[in-house]
Amino acid sequence: MNTESPSRRRALVTGGSGDLGREIARQLIASGTDVATSSRHSEAPGVGERWHLNCDLAEASGAGRLVDEVRGKWGGLEVLVNNAGVAPGAITPMVHETDDAIERVVATNVLGPLYLLRGLLPLLRQAPGGGVVVNIASRAGLAPIPGLVAYSASKSALVSLTLAIAKEESDGKVYLAALCPGGIATELRASLFGRDDAAQQLPVGRVASLVGEIALHRTADGRPVRSGGAVLVTRATGVQVLDWRTDERGVETLSWR
Ligand SMILES: NC(=O)c1ccc[n+]([C@@H]2O[C@H](COP(=O)([O-])OP(=O)(O)OC[C@H]3O[C@@H](n4cnc5c(N)ncnc54)[C@H](OP(=O)(O)O)[C@@H]3O)[C@@H](O)[C@H]2O)c1
Repeated sequence: MNTESPSRRRALVTGGSGDLGREIARQLIASGTDVATSSRHSEAPGVGERWHLNCDLAEASGAGRLVDEVRGKWGGLEVLVNNAGVAPGAITPMVHETDDAIERVVATNVLGPLYLLRGLLPLLRQAPGGGVVVNIASRAGLAPIPGLVAYSASKSALVSLTLAIAKEESDGKVYLAALCPGGIATELRASLFGRDDAAQQLPVGRVASLVGEIALHRTADGRPVRSGGAVLVTRATGVQVLDWRTDERGVETLSWR
């Protein structure tokens, strides 16, 4: 195991075989970061130098294997991008959603990031300049979509666990933020809403570059992103930062900047 302090950042990007994960990995590699990716089935094609592990993050054992692999290969980690996620195969009213679809969505989108964070936070806490976690949630986690009830709820949970863990990690050793994109021009979007719709959505490169900005705790126009905060980006409104504050009475409020 290599326990030496690295001269380069090391990042784990889950869902690295998908449209967004591949682009996040590509941009991180271009910025000089060593990247590991994961997915269930396939190698992540075309992202340059990196290693890849096939594991099912909907199962605690899959996340555990990935944690062990990061510990064994690198012995440390600076950046975790929880990007792996699934949506149901079609827009479906709640009463017709199957047990299997609900369980798959919740397990992949909520339990996967939780298991990984549980295993990797100790490594991220040791990162020399502070560890960074970017959880890829969705606009649907803030503005739920009918026909995507389990998916919307799973992404709300991802935003919530980002804030909860940031509060636990309040000594500043790990910075966490949730990115909530509106529709992105990917196959996932096309499979739900059709190709014409997908072509109108956010380019993957724009969303991937936001991951890099958030990892530096700010947006491109210099707005700070507080640990535990969320960044919403849609094609129509651009970037908005959702921040939380506690007033002198201990009352917490969420506000947009
Ligand atoms: N596309 C959009 O409009 C949109 C909008 C907002 C947010 N998002 C979010 O952005 C992220 C990426 O979406 P995308 O459009 O790039 O989707 P995608 O192309 O379908 O990529 C999803 C990735 O997650 C992996 N994955 C799925 N289930 C997994 C599991 N159980 N264990 C491990 N890996 C798993 C997939 O690989 P395998 O299938 O090989 O496992 C794939 O690499 C997702 O979290 C999605 O919810 C997407």
